[in-house]
Amino acid sequence: MKIAIITGGSNGIGRATALELGKRGISVILTYHNYKDRAEEVVREIEKNKDVRAIALKLDLTQAESFEAFANDVKEELKSIWKRTTYDYLVNNGGVGGPCPIDEMSHEYFDRIMNTNYKGPIFLTKVLTSFMEDGGSIVNTTSSSKNQTFSGYSVYGSLKAALSVWTRYAAKEFAPRKIRVNAVSPGPTHTNFGDGAMDKYPEFLKPLIEQTAFNRMGTAEDLSKVIANFLSDDFGWVTAQDIEVSGGHLL
Ligand SMILES: NC(=O)c1ccc[n+]([C@@H]2O[C@H](COP(=O)([O-])OP(=O)(O)OC[C@H]3O[C@@H](n4cnc5c(N)ncnc54)[C@H](OP(=O)(O)O)[C@@H]3O)[C@@H](O)[C@H]2O)c1
Repeated sequence: MKIAIITGGSNGIGRATALELGKRGISVILTYHNYKDRAEEVVREIEKNKDVRAIALKLDLTQAESFEAFANDVKEELKSIWKRTTYDYLVNNGGVGGPCPIDEMSHEYFDRIMNTNYKGPIFLTKVLTSFMEDGGSIVNTTSSSKNQTFSGYSVYGSLKAALSVWTRYAAKEFAPRKIRVNAVSPGPTHTNFGDGAMDKYPEFLKPLIEQTAFNRMGTAEDLSKVIANFLSDDFGWVTAQDIEVSGGHLL
């Protein structure tokens, strides 16, 4: 049985990916940051499929020094639940957003976006690939904002661009172990991103929908299906790619 680790599995795209993988018979170790209750609800939902197991662990991507302890917790769970010392897939999905114009930029804002969306996934990958099965697969979540200029998203967009470039470098470094590394770039996707801002301020969605060729917001499920396929052997000859999943945003 395949096992996937998904960061930010308590909400949005990570949650949908955890559920999709569960449906496909893949066991899941998902992480949460603030919402343990939501993560546990995802675990219960996945385990309705009696063929798979799921667990939720806390992880703060801004605390890279905690990743070794997190990895040790993962190893313990692998041993006790699955009788394994390795796992197969890693989805670096957890992230934070929110706009900030350059003339108002604080060190705190920069560090939060950078540590969660860039430094975190890199150092987590470093720690977790040491016991990933050879022939495994990694998917990073970047963003279509890396190719566009959303107002106030200069740091977020440029760090997602950096993560996209890093995906190519990582793909090369892990190729000798036949580990594939790819990325998905979501366009505007209706999730809990920005702490529920899309539900609180639905007026911001209208222009995004009008800018999208398929004339609606993306859903977490639009992304989760692509991520699940990217992880699978169907994409066994694909590495170092970053595919936009946006329904044709700003086409
Ligand atoms: N939605 C979009 O329009 C969009 C567009 C482009 C790219 N993306 C990217 O897609 C990914 C998923 O976003 P989403 O839309 O699904 O957002 P979401 O619904 O807000 O989910 C974000 C997830 O990341 C976790 N998280 C937040 N801060 C964290 C931290 N410090 N350490 C560990 N985990 C943390 C959250 O955990 P808790 O909920 O438990 O706190 C949550 O599970 C992100 O990388 C985001 O940048 C989203």
